[in-house]
Amino acid sequence: MKEKRGNFSGTIGFVMAAAGSAVGLGNIWRFPYLAAKGHGGVFILCYILLAITFGFALLTTEIAIGRKTAQSPLTAYGVLNSKWKGLGILTCLVPTIILPYYCTIGAWVIKYFAIYLTGSSKEAVQENFFDGFISGNWEPIVWMIVFLLLTAFVVYRGINKGIEKYSKVLMPVLLALVIGLAIYSMTISHTDANGVTRTGLQGVKVYLIPDFTGITVKEFFIILMDAMGQLFFSISVSMGIMIAYGSYVKKEVNLMKSINQIEIFDTIVALLAGLLIVPAVFTFMGSDGMSKGPGLMFVSLPKVFEAMGVIGSVLGLFFFVMVIFAAITSAVSVMEAIVSSIMDAKRWSRHKSTIVVTIYALIGGVVVCLGYNVFYFNVTLPNGTQGQILDIMDYISNNCLMPMVALLTCILIGWVVKPKTVIDEVTQGVHPFHRRGLYIVMVKVIAPILLAVLLLQSFGIL
Ligand code: PHE
Repeated sequence: MKEKRGNFSGTIGFVMAAAGSAVGLGNIWRFPYLAAKGHGGVFILCYILLAITFGFALLTTEIAIGRKTAQSPLTAYGVLNSKWKGLGILTCLVPTIILPYYCTIGAWVIKYFAIYLTGSSKEAVQENFFDGFISGNWEPIVWMIVFLLLTAFVVYRGINKGIEKYSKVLMPVLLALVIGLAIYSMTISHTDANGVTRTGLQGVKVYLIPDFTGITVKEFFIILMDAMGQLFFSISVSMGIMIAYGSYVKKEVNLMKSINQIEIFDTIVALLAGLLIVPAVFTFMGSDGMSKGPGLMFVSLPKVFEAMGVIGSVLGLFFFVMVIFAAITSAVSVMEAIVSSIMDAKRWSRHKSTIVVTIYALIGGVVVCLGYNVFYFNVTLPNGTQGQILDIMDYISNNCLMPMVALLTCILIGWVVKPKTVIDEVTQGVHPFHRRGLYIVMVKVIAPILLAVLLLQSFGIL
């Protein structure tokens, strides 16, 4: 039996849910690192410029497709043009691959939260603690199940009583935490064993001030591509999420205004995460202390918190609460993209669909966790990095499928159904569509070119 399609109650509910999806681990563990290595403000300038052009075009396109068709990603493309049904399948593949490994990373975050909650943070800074934990027999699996059940609970409750309700609480708390932590981080100073004193404010300079000295064209190209890859991942496009969320937005909501708010929220949290992390790491470890991904969050930062003494254990607790909120609202959106697709395609109820997807994620999550244990192997990915099961899944979804989905979506909207379809959906004949010309040029020409370059770079060709 097909249930009545849920709706976000209004603009705020939609903006908070979409921002909840957008603000995730990418904002916290990738953005600060890329900014620190991208000659400070040079990366940030590229990122902001791309956000208001390229990011704006992609986000607008997906949300409008969702609202226009009132369909989940699996079926939405086919409604726009019956020959493009296949793109729906390709799009749904992305959250299907991401969900199990995202829950595994969620598990690690909950474990570290538990460490700070029980006051055992000394443990976390021991040599190889993180590697020992993730390769454990059962502990990562238990925490993965906890994270998965929390996520499934929110999705099971539905759009209003689940996704919207929790996003409206978690996102403002997250914002308050990141502001508070960033302010603290800017005020610290530390003298190391060699008698060198570094301050948080010096770290802020490293992070924010554009340093063009010695930048070659090639280096600039890499910074630009890093900014684009990051933006693309950060606004949660090309995984069907924004189509699913768009399909729950009422016609009277002003999409353009909401899209601007989502982008501003996402960018502000990323900038603040940088203001929190870069000065803290710089003060205690110097310029070379910055690493990305798990190394930053689970190895370097615990060391920084430890060096801060008692206050560090409180800050560590707040920090991991913040990361849990960011991770859960993102995981919810990934699960929703799959659950809503099954609901539309198979006409299953939300409850049945959520249960089936949870069982799938459970099995997939166990496999990913065991990727550091009995299923351990090491492969070299085409971009030269080494990885395990989690990294392979991440590479296939983020580096290959997502740029492909975005490229095909641009071709469909730009050349087949035409940008007017999206523009009309956004304006509804009453709302303004600023940057209309920019939007058209972006979807038709510039975004596809940029995406093709990004794809070539992912394959190691450029
Ligand atoms: N936008 C998220 C981030 O920046 C990424 C993400 C969202 C990943 C949803 C998976 C699922 O971290």
